[in-house]
Amino acid sequence: MIAIYPGSFDPITLGHLDLIKRSSILFEKVIVAVLKNPNKKPLFSIEKRVQQITECVNNIPNVEVDSFTGLTVEYAKKKQAGVLLRGLRVMSDFEQELQMAHINKTLANSLETVFLATNTELSFISSSVVKEIAKFGGEIEHLVPPNIAEDLRIYLKK
Ligand code: PNS
Repeated sequence: MIAIYPGSFDPITLGHLDLIKRSSILFEKVIVAVLKNPNKKPLFSIEKRVQQITECVNNIPNVEVDSFTGLTVEYAKKKQAGVLLRGLRVMSDFEQELQMAHINKTLANSLETVFLATNTELSFISSSVVKEIAKFGGEIEHLVPPNIAEDLRIYLKK
């Protein structure tokens, strides 16, 4: 079974990475799919994010990294994925994620959303919090992989 793990990943965090590693054991192939979202102003370009994630997962043979535009369900169909993966950190994630899963189910009935609970020790991490800390020169090495910490320092000139 192929699983897609869609998201903004601006940037990928240790929480995302943990979920990718764990899901790569559960599924035949995991495709990390970075959304090209015209409504968001990301810090890192889509190409940069794909490159960053590729660096992080290049030691996991059944994980691929890609980008997409439009509906996640259409992308999943194109990739013949049967599962859409999402991580749950806290209860407040659940409401929005459940709505998204229901909407996606109405659009593609055969695609199943599978939620994985984020590692407890990483459940407080979010890409926005990481960017905020990095912006003010705080420590981020415990929140993101080393290549991302380096890129954040360069992009935010800290
Ligand atoms: O990392 P994010 O920003 O929480 O990821 C959200 C994402 C990319 C999974 C979601 O916004 C999405 O699937 N967008 C693509 C458009 C789409 O399919 N919308 C319908 C489902 S709400």
